[in-house]
Amino acid sequence: MKAYLTLNYQKHKNSKHMSHKIQTLSGYIHEYQKSVLQPEEFWGRVAESFHWKKPWSKVLKWDFDGPDVNWFVDGKMNITENILDRHLFIMGDRPAIIWEPNEPGDEVVTLTYRELYHQVCQFANALKAQGVQKGDRVIIYMPMVPEAAVAMLACARIGAVHSVVFAGFSSTAVADRINDCEAKMVLTSDGNYRGAKSIGVKSVVDEALEKSTSVEKVIVFKRTGTEVTMKEGRDIWWDDAIKGQPLDCPAEEMDAEDMLFILYTSGSTGKPKGVVHTCGGYMVYTYYSFVNVFQYNVGDVYWCTADVGWITGHSYIVYGPLLAGATTLMFEGVPTYPHVGRFWEVIDKHKVNQFYTAPTAIRALQAYGLEPLEPYKMDTLKVIGSVGEPINEEAWHWYHDHVGKGNCPLVDTWWQTETGGIMIAPIAGVTPNKPAHASLPLPGVQPIIVDTEGKELHGNNVEGNLCIKFPWPGMIRTTYGDHDRCKQTYFSTYKGLYFTGDGAKRDHDGYLRILGRVDDVINVSGHRMGTAEVENAINEHPKVIESAVVGYPHDVKGQGIYAYVICDMEGRSEESLKNEIRETVSKIIGPIAKPDKVQIVPGLPKTRSGKIMRRILRKVASGEADQLGDTSTLLNPEVVEAIVKGASK
Ligand code: PRX
Repeated sequence: MKAYLTLNYQKHKNSKHMSHKIQTLSGYIHEYQKSVLQPEEFWGRVAESFHWKKPWSKVLKWDFDGPDVNWFVDGKMNITENILDRHLFIMGDRPAIIWEPNEPGDEVVTLTYRELYHQVCQFANALKAQGVQKGDRVIIYMPMVPEAAVAMLACARIGAVHSVVFAGFSSTAVADRINDCEAKMVLTSDGNYRGAKSIGVKSVVDEALEKSTSVEKVIVFKRTGTEVTMKEGRDIWWDDAIKGQPLDCPAEEMDAEDMLFILYTSGSTGKPKGVVHTCGGYMVYTYYSFVNVFQYNVGDVYWCTADVGWITGHSYIVYGPLLAGATTLMFEGVPTYPHVGRFWEVIDKHKVNQFYTAPTAIRALQAYGLEPLEPYKMDTLKVIGSVGEPINEEAWHWYHDHVGKGNCPLVDTWWQTETGGIMIAPIAGVTPNKPAHASLPLPGVQPIIVDTEGKELHGNNVEGNLCIKFPWPGMIRTTYGDHDRCKQTYFSTYKGLYFTGDGAKRDHDGYLRILGRVDDVINVSGHRMGTAEVENAINEHPKVIESAVVGYPHDVKGQGIYAYVICDMEGRSEESLKNEIRETVSKIIGPIAKPDKVQIVPGLPKTRSGKIMRRILRKVASGEADQLGDTSTLLNPEVVEAIVKGASK
């Protein structure tokens, strides 16, 4: 095995990026073993390829009870020096970001590493001039334009903590996030193009700011030319903010464990939580997972179709690829505009080599048949990937056979906002592909399956709850402003383990298959939605008395949102009330959280202690009302019959 490593490293001795790339199955097995037996040595070696302002004194100090996890203790660095400055020397003129606009005929923007460096530095200087300092929180609520990546990196350059909010969230959701992290600044745009629509963005921020007091300045990027109100003394146009600002900006010295960003995500409780990632570990982990899973080679064009508002956009549009010196494609539009072959057109247009998307997009496009694919060759593709939700076998095969033409490895990547990077996934071309299986853990990741008591289930052919028993560099450090919530949510269910909230099966070959959430989280089109969060929004409607939300299988979205609502019907028709409820959710959270089905019910099935029996509601929503089991112990068994009768088709 030593011989293999030596040979491998010699071959790539001029490229440090390549030295961490696994290229054979035996190489993977060897690296995995090393990462478990000598984790500090393993990760220390990966981290050495970066520029550190001051080396670490110890690779890892940890305790899952705290939780208190420290990677690269005392190490000082700045992630943007590793993305920008070091790439200037040999890759300054290589494209860093290629931007494909919403309209196919509009001009493509390409930013080289040198141009990105200057834009980031200039905007970093603008942020400083507007009063942003190290440690301040900055909300980024922007469309998919290169400036969104520039904004993130500019924050990182000066040590400000960014919190990107998906530009489809409502003003209430934006306000909640601003208030939770007491943001000092908001970066936004006038509007946003999404397919045939142009959506107001600044107006949402204006509404949000009526409910918050911490924000001092708003910088507005002009994208659509939509008319906006600029508040004197608070709002400033992007172009005015950067005018005259120098194109160089010193990189703030950051401790490896200083906060890099906060990203809000939904959980079982009503309030989204701010997942905190730190500088050093996140840098090492997103880089390592990116080059390995996608087998990126210098010169390749890589495209991840996510939005920067989600963790996939953070780790695999911006940070991971740029740390690896890759060319990352950013797409502003939607897969079906102006036609349903847009993805395939873009792949040919930019000669994409690695393509990473979500099962929901595959299922939606699969519904149009093969004709939209016919005009395109897609012969540059080498690797295709999937993320965000379990990929069903039918979609897996369609994606593999028709997009990958049967000869691209398909990497089904399992991970979470909290894990920072990909945890369980095939390594393209190295791990044998198995449909609908995330397959094997990356080096450094130690997953285990436990039963409900937390007992580890050894061996193959076992199914239970998925936990991770050892720290990895990209993991969550805390939930912003509430460390106890982090402990309760992830580290208390099973002592000494990180609990993912997912169920998993290890099959007879030892390959892992993710079965989906085992908590009150619904995965709608790859987006996480807390049932309590949707219920809270529904309950804001004045006619609503009580509600319960569950997920149900949906052909395209993976899971749909089904809401059971008890209402005061006076003066309203059932149909208008249902629409009002859906609109209320859209206004409070955003259109992505709109229930697919609303059923007005006379009551909700409850246990004698008053707890809603969601199991029954899930069965009815899934069309399995014939499998309700024993309902006689309920406080109100009579409502079950009424619910089954009125079930929404
Ligand atoms: O249930 C799992 C599902 O998405 C959840 C994480 O959601 P989020 O934090 O929004 O991050 C999504 C992008 C990383 C997980 O708990 N999930 C994600 N990827 C997969 C998946 N389920 C099955 N297979 C996957 N490949």
